[in-house]
Amino acid sequence: MNRLITTDKLICAFDTGLRTLFAKPHSERQHPDAAIDESPMDNQQKKHVSALMRVNHTGEVCAQALYSGQALTAQSAATSISMQQAAREETEHLAWCESRIEALGGHTSVLNPLFYAGSFAIGAVAGALGDNWSLGFLEETEKQVGAHLASHLDQLPATDEKSRRIIEQMQIDEAKHANDASIQGAAQLPAPIKFCMTKMSQLMTSTTYHI
Ligand SMILES: [Fe+2]
Ligand SMILES: [Fe+2]
Repeated sequence: MNRLITTDKLICAFDTGLRTLFAKPHSERQHPDAAIDESPMDNQQKKHVSALMRVNHTGEVCAQALYSGQALTAQSAATSISMQQAAREETEHLAWCESRIEALGGHTSVLNPLFYAGSFAIGAVAGALGDNWSLGFLEETEKQVGAHLASHLDQLPATDEKSRRIIEQMQIDEAKHANDASIQGAAQLPAPIKFCMTKMSQLMTSTTYHI
């Protein structure tokens, strides 16, 4: 067991925060929409899709923050490393969402630093509760993100195959993250906690769609 918040972990958490909020994210995998041609959309459609992708982008910022917070206070070295790895994998989703937002002429949310700070604090508390609870929190987060992505697929214009490919690949990845957490021993979270997580997610969605 490793209950210490080491300098290494603090530096890693600080580095992840700075990179998430201020650096251009990089995807090792090819962007899922790379081979798809842009389809014609009117300004209203572009604005709507760009807002949906902004919500998804902030969701990924929150995921980075949660996993970074959890890695900071994780009790075992294995869980801490696995949380840091999960945070890195989410970087690709950040890159895909950011590129799509740019292509549509939109912008990322000005609220990202606020959501990062809040999510980091929640992640750190979840990590301190114990690895099984922390993994349970990760699993539930990924499941909720998956459901939220499914609702976005329903809202996309039928012609926007580029955004669809990105969201579909994110769904596949999030389902894998949830499954990995389950295999590693995720605890089943109490219903009131799941309810609070849903409410937080709704707050994030409703605000970042607009700003
Ligand atoms: Fe993600
Ligand atoms: Fe994920």
